[in-house]
Amino acid sequence: MSVPAWTIEEWPLREQSDELLSELHAARAPLHAEATPDDPRRPLADEIRAARSLPVLEDGVRCVARDAAGGIAGYAWCGWEQLAGWDHVLSVDIAVLPDWRRRGLGRLLLDRSASIAERRGLRLVMGRSRESVSSGAAFARRFGAEVAMVGRENRQDLRSVNRDMLDRWTADGPVRAPGYRLLFVAGRTPPDLIARVAAVFNVMNTAPRENLDVSDTPVTPDLVRQYEDAIVAAGDEMWAYYAIENCSGRFVGLTNVTIRHGESDRVHVGDTGVEPAHRGYALGKWLKAAMTQRILTDLPDVCWVITHNAGSNDAMLAINSQLGFCTSAVFVTWQIATDRLRAELAAAPAAADRRSQ
Ligand SMILES: CC(C)(COP(=O)(O)OP(=O)(O)OC[C@H]1O[C@@H](n2cnc3c(N)ncnc32)[C@H](O)[C@@H]1OP(=O)(O)O)[C@@H](O)C(=O)NCCC(=O)NCCS
Repeated sequence: MSVPAWTIEEWPLREQSDELLSELHAARAPLHAEATPDDPRRPLADEIRAARSLPVLEDGVRCVARDAAGGIAGYAWCGWEQLAGWDHVLSVDIAVLPDWRRRGLGRLLLDRSASIAERRGLRLVMGRSRESVSSGAAFARRFGAEVAMVGRENRQDLRSVNRDMLDRWTADGPVRAPGYRLLFVAGRTPPDLIARVAAVFNVMNTAPRENLDVSDTPVTPDLVRQYEDAIVAAGDEMWAYYAIENCSGRFVGLTNVTIRHGESDRVHVGDTGVEPAHRGYALGKWLKAAMTQRILTDLPDVCWVITHNAGSNDAMLAINSQLGFCTSAVFVTWQIATDRLRAELAAAPAAADRRSQ
C-alpha cells in the first residue's frame, strides 16, 4: 500500500482558530460513532467555549494531520500542566480517522508527540485507550507503553434510582456521624470558605493511582480558583457538598459535580473523598445521597450521573454500586518514559523508511 504524504500543522491549544475547531468537530464524527455511539455529541459552540477556557495552568499543542487534498486525517492533542506531581507528563490523545488507519499516521503523530515532550523536557508520555476500541491498546502496546491504570466510567440512571435508600442514607447521616454536618455550595466557592475547601481537596491525593508515575498535587486556594474560573468561563456550573466536623469547623469530606452547558440530561461527578481520619462514619454515603437528592429535585431533566473511578477503588465502587451505578466504559491509561518511546520509535521505523530499507 502506498504511504500518503501527510502535512502536519502544529496549533498551540490557545491559538486554535474557530475554523479549525469547526473542521475538527466535523471530522471527528466517525470517531464519536465508533467510541460513544449512544451519547449525544457536544455542540460545536460548547466545544469552542471549552477550548477557550483552558485553566491557566494547562497548555499544549494540537498536531493536525492533513491528507494530500487538505482534509483532516488525524490529530494528536498534546497537553501539559504546571501542576506539582504532574509537571513531567505530556498527556497525548492520538486519533486517526478510520479510513486512514494502518498506514503509519498514528506512528507519525506519536513521533511528533515525542518531539514535543523532548522539546519541553517532559520525561513521561501518557495516553488513554477505551476497551471498546481495540486499536488504541494494540497501538500503545506496539510502542512499548505500560498499563498505568485501569479506570471505569460508571453511570447511574436516575430514572430507576432507589429513592427510599437515598432517604435512609440522608436520615442515617447525622445518626452515624453525629459530630458532622453537610454544607451545599453552588458556583464559585465563597471567599471565606476557600482555604478550607482547598485543604479538603488534598484528600484526593489518597485516591488510588495504581501504577501512574505521578505524585501528590498540593491543592491551594489559587489552584481551586483557577479550575473554578475555567468551569465558569466554559459556561458550565458546579455544585459541591462538603462534610464539616462541628467541633473544629474543618472540612473533612467532599463530593462535587459539573453541569455542562448544553447537556441537560446528564451531570459529571468530579471528586469525592473523605479524609482518612474521618472515615467509618458513613460520610461518603451521606454526601453522595445528599447530592443525588439535590439533582433529582433541582435538575428534573437529568437522567445520567456519570463518574470515573479507578478499578481498584473498592470503597468508592461499593458506594456507587449500591447507588445503582453500572460500568459504561473501561479505560486504560498507558505510560512510557519519553526516552524509551524515542528508542521504540527508532526501532520501529515508519512504513516509508521500511520500504526504502
Ligand atoms: C490507535 C490509532 C491512533 C492508530 O492509528 P494508525 O494510523 O492506524 O496507526 P499506525 O498505522 O501508525 O500503526 C502503528 C502500529 O500500531 C499497531 N496497530 C495499530 N492499530 C492496530 C490494530 N487495530 N490492531 C493491531 N495492531 C495495531 C501495529 O503494530 C501498527 O503497525 P503495522 O500496521 O505495521 O502492523 C487509531 O487506530 C485510532 O485512532 N484509534 C481510535 C483512537 C484511540 O484509541 N486512540 C488512543 C491511542 S492510545
